Amino acid sequence: MKSCVRVMSMATAALVLLAPLARGQATAEYRLHNDVPGTWPQQAVRGARGMVATDEQLGSQAGVEILKRGGNAVDAAVAVAFALAVVEPAAGNIGGGGFMLVRLADGRTTFFDYREVAPGKATRDMYIGADGKLDKVASVVGYKAVAVPGTVAGLELALKTYGKLKLADVMGPAIHLAEDGFPVSEKLARQLEEERPDLQQFTASRRIFLNDGKLFHAGDTFKQPELAATLKRIAKNGAAEFYRGETAKMFVDDIQRMGGLITLEDLVQYRPKVREALHANYELDGHKWDVISSPPPSSGGVAIIEAMNMLRDVPLKGWDDMQSLHMAVETMRRVFADRAAYLADPDFAKVPVDGLTSDCYAKELAATIDPEHASSSKTVKAGTPHICGVSAENSAPPEEIVSLNDGPHTTHFSVVDAAGNAVASTYTLNNSYGSKATSVAGFLLNDEMDDFTTQPGVPNALFGLIQSDANAIAPGHRPLSSMTPTILVRDGKLSFVTGSPGGPTIISATLLSVLNWMRLGMDAQAAINAPRFHHQWLPDVIVMEKDFPASMEAALNAQGYTTRRRGHIGLVNAIGIDPQTGERLGAADPRDNGAAVGY
Ligand code: DON
Repeated sequence: MKSCVRVMSMATAALVLLAPLARGQATAEYRLHNDVPGTWPQQAVRGARGMVATDEQLGSQAGVEILKRGGNAVDAAVAVAFALAVVEPAAGNIGGGGFMLVRLADGRTTFFDYREVAPGKATRDMYIGADGKLDKVASVVGYKAVAVPGTVAGLELALKTYGKLKLADVMGPAIHLAEDGFPVSEKLARQLEEERPDLQQFTASRRIFLNDGKLFHAGDTFKQPELAATLKRIAKNGAAEFYRGETAKMFVDDIQRMGGLITLEDLVQYRPKVREALHANYELDGHKWDVISSPPPSSGGVAIIEAMNMLRDVPLKGWDDMQSLHMAVETMRRVFADRAAYLADPDFAKVPVDGLTSDCYAKELAATIDPEHASSSKTVKAGTPHICGVSAENSAPPEEIVSLNDGPHTTHFSVVDAAGNAVASTYTLNNSYGSKATSVAGFLLNDEMDDFTTQPGVPNALFGLIQSDANAIAPGHRPLSSMTPTILVRDGKLSFVTGSPGGPTIISATLLSVLNWMRLGMDAQAAINAPRFHHQWLPDVIVMEKDFPASMEAALNAQGYTTRRRGHIGLVNAIGIDPQTGERLGAADPRDNGAAVGY
């Protein structure tokens, strides 16, 4: 495993600390992907009717199977989510949480929030030892890291709200994949071997994911009978099975025996939420665009819209154009400074969404960019967001603490059906293989507790980050997320469905895919293949994919930027719509063998 460095800072001191990684953090972004095809597809997959783009061929096929059986995009998305819980155990899940953004063909939009919540027994200082030091393992590995999962409740709610098929129907492909097994890919075999040091600490993880210590090899058939049995019970009894049925009891008995905090009451109390998606409008070359994205407790939609607003009047020419790159990087820097200070669970914190996404505020922020030189994150601080017509002085001052998140795995998928309904969904266990602990009911458990501020003023365990106080641990609170499922509408018609994993790089990868499609006019696959870059305010460094042109890096260095290379950033599985033909253009991310399947 390659080691990497996560950096945190206090806004006041811009102090940079280097934090060691928690063991087992097999960071997908930092790995060299041996199995990434040498030649990336240059064309999107075309489909006249439906399209599904996910990290895994089998996941995409599960979605298409449901579309072909008469399901709509939401039916297919729920089928994909359950199928990825089987075939992509690093991130696909029923033991984690996520977000699903739906836009129906008639224009209605809904955001399903099934983010995990902190258990009732969780306390602000639960990861701090008697010596006052943060336990850098407990919030990441093992049962204490687990937040109350939301996925099953959220998927059922989405299906009940908009689906046409029954839960048992859409879960069919997942049950089949778990029961009869599927061929282990080279990627999965390698990941599981890399995760061995952590997975082997937990009995069920060792038995199920390490083949009782013998490991899996590419081509082996991977069957998951416990998971199949759990999925069948859920298919029969609904989400109630997961939250109060036999599965709930198995999960809770296990977690309590092993020192975790979650109780049956926590499961019974869990509720997914329906939230209003964020919208922002743009006019470009005579076309009207609506950018629809994720509200808090994600920081992603606010960040994307704030960035798009700041770049509204900037003539973007491409990422081989120094000025475009410079303006995009400085925009990211400012957006991330605001993210750190203002974003948290909106049910408990006052998040100034209107100010952060207002045009007047964006203009003020954009005016702080020196068009010729790199700014310094020592001097760029969170701004004072305000809506047009209200002066900044009357707005809430920023918190003085930085909140940054990063992570190695999560998964995003996109679905469009024949009628033009669309789903963008990102869901996660947080770290790759979550807490590494597996329930006796056959599913991996998340380590989402580490997305909270585990100790104010001290870097959290997984990513070495300091986070804002508004994001402190408290029972029932949702930890701040960066997940950014996003949908674009052009002249009233569906245009682009996108999103990514990657902790804070989710925001940059998703933003770049949107800019590439909407502002730079790239075709769907080019928008995904284009080299990515990321700046998150602190550390004050541009992270660039290894394929980014060396000449651009040199030009950035000359302008005063510090740069660092990374294997890849994000895994964007997107779908574009051809405005001429209406065809669905499936653009899966070739960085890690994503697959688009259409018909
Ligand atoms: O919700 C979040 O922002 C994080 N739990 C996501 C972690 C992540 O994306 C790791 N992935 N690559």
